[in-house]
Amino acid sequence: MSKTIRRAVIPAAGLGSRLLPLTKATPKEMLPVGDKPVIEHTVRELVASGITDITIVVSGDKSLIQDHFRPNPALVAQLRKEGKTAYADAVEEVGELSRSGHITYLHQHGPYGNGTPVLNAARNFGDEPILVLWPDDVFVAGVPRAQQLIRAYEATSCPVLALMPMAANDSQRYGVPVVKEDFGDGLLRITGLVEKPNPRDAPSGYAAIGGYVVTPDIIDELREQTKRWYEHRTGEIYLTDAINAYAGSRAMYGQVIQGKWYDTGNPLTYLIAQFAAALANPEYGPRLHELARELGGPGASE
Ligand code: G1P
Repeated sequence: MSKTIRRAVIPAAGLGSRLLPLTKATPKEMLPVGDKPVIEHTVRELVASGITDITIVVSGDKSLIQDHFRPNPALVAQLRKEGKTAYADAVEEVGELSRSGHITYLHQHGPYGNGTPVLNAARNFGDEPILVLWPDDVFVAGVPRAQQLIRAYEATSCPVLALMPMAANDSQRYGVPVVKEDFGDGLLRITGLVEKPNPRDAPSGYAAIGGYVVTPDIIDELREQTKRWYEHRTGEIYLTDAINAYAGSRAMYGQVIQGKWYDTGNPLTYLIAQFAAALANPEYGPRLHELARELGGPGASE
């Protein structure tokens, strides 16, 4: 019997090393894409999908994330007094996200690796399935990615991975699922996940894109991993290892997500995400399209 998904975890304790020196003082989750920091896109996606309990797992130097979502009635009152209603509304709306999403923060503790924040947060969750979303993917989708994952879970009562088709030579950047069966509408039965394979060893043409429905059984597998974490090749706890331990003997699914996906995790893809968001902006987009043509046009570099 499937349970309703109400809770989500956003692991946000990483160093953002692929984006250094940009991320030396600014958490990668706070880098802007369009008119919002990356993590706000994820929080809005969750709130729009009916999630009412969001845990952001942070490390010591990520206070900017909390500052961003914290309601600031004094600033709102000042802006209203000055007649700056649109700005006041915008600030108020961001603060409101932490109420509707009931955002809480947890400090990561335990071995390195992306399984640790999930285990830390799961302590408070009991026997419920949860959503785990990495904060460095931005989706532009009619139905939010989180909602598409929830629907797949409701249809299967099993763990689900968010997937997107990828270019063959991107396989070394992503987990690549082993697909056993295609049920249509993007729902796939999967039997494992190969982490960052060489293109010739990639078991399918899909990438796992940092969105997961994690059930209590996967949490149990993560706990098992911690018993042997020191045996792991890098001494880290990985969600992928728990997924593989689970999928070896039990049913698990992938959901190919409908929508546009922007990975902000490395310099080129981050710039692409910013560029796409800028071009899509109704106010500035037309001028930026023009500028792109001018810069790319004949004689532009002379
Ligand atoms: C992690 C996962 C990988 C997934 C990727 C998506 O890798 O381990 O399976 O494809 O996120 O962003 P990371 O990017 O943390 O190395």
